[in-house]
Amino acid sequence: MTPPPPHLNPLPPGGRGPGEGDKARLVREMFTRIARRYDLMNRLMTFGRHQAWRRVAARLADAQPGGLALDVATGTGDLALALLGQTHMRHVVAMDFSDGMLEVGREKLQRKEAGRRVSLLVADALLLPFPDKTFACVTSAFLLRNLADLTQGLAEMRRVTQAGGKVVALEITQPTFPGWSGLFAWYFKSLVPWLGGIVARDREAYTYLPRSVERFLSPRELTRLMEEVGLRNVSCRRLGLGTVTVHTGTA
Ligand SMILES: C[S@@+](CC[C@H](N)C(=O)[O-])C[C@H]1O[C@@H](n2cnc3c(N)ncnc32)[C@H](O)[C@@H]1O
Repeated sequence: MTPPPPHLNPLPPGGRGPGEGDKARLVREMFTRIARRYDLMNRLMTFGRHQAWRRVAARLADAQPGGLALDVATGTGDLALALLGQTHMRHVVAMDFSDGMLEVGREKLQRKEAGRRVSLLVADALLLPFPDKTFACVTSAFLLRNLADLTQGLAEMRRVTQAGGKVVALEITQPTFPGWSGLFAWYFKSLVPWLGGIVARDREAYTYLPRSVERFLSPRELTRLMEEVGLRNVSCRRLGLGTVTVHTGTA
């Protein structure tokens, strides 16, 4: 796959600060490195529940039949496929800045004979290469905590959504039920890095994962930020015993 053209480069010269640029580069390299083991790790870590959560997110994104959907940071394409299965979308544009993740997605779409209804694109979520109000709905799964500039990412998702269309974001969250939250923290911070070391041969990537969740906003804080970028009727729904949360807002 060819590298992104300069205007889609996730590290524009003089754009974001050095720390932020660093984060984007490290995140892109990390996902490219683990791309071939990413789906298997998701299946193991979530005990097979991850696709059900994406189906819920896809259902919540539903818009006018026959519309065009955008899946931001699609990775290996699972939410794009869920959008095709759960909604009446005519076509899904699925973008990511890791060509390694998209390559795995491309093979999957071909296997499932869905290649003609999904367009894969290398692009930066912080600089979406689409005009305002292009899409009937815009989704993301497990992207937000990886962004160098969360406000900019959310503002871009809102900008390219048609008035009245849904912006949907699925993300891992820390459960709050007493007892379960401690057990989950132990599983996530100890077992997951160990599993990542064995299955993906990348303990570092699966140590970053729980840390990124720990540093991320609470569902309430994310709700407020989504409202600040101009989304209306923002609400959230916890799934998987509080280990993931899906936020929706109207553009
Ligand atoms: C945890 S994966 C999620 C992939 C997919 N959405 C899923 O449901 O499995 C995070 C993805 O976000 C992508 N990503 C992170 N920052 C990005 C950015 N600024 N622009 C585009 N993609 C980005 C990574 O390359 C990676 O594929």
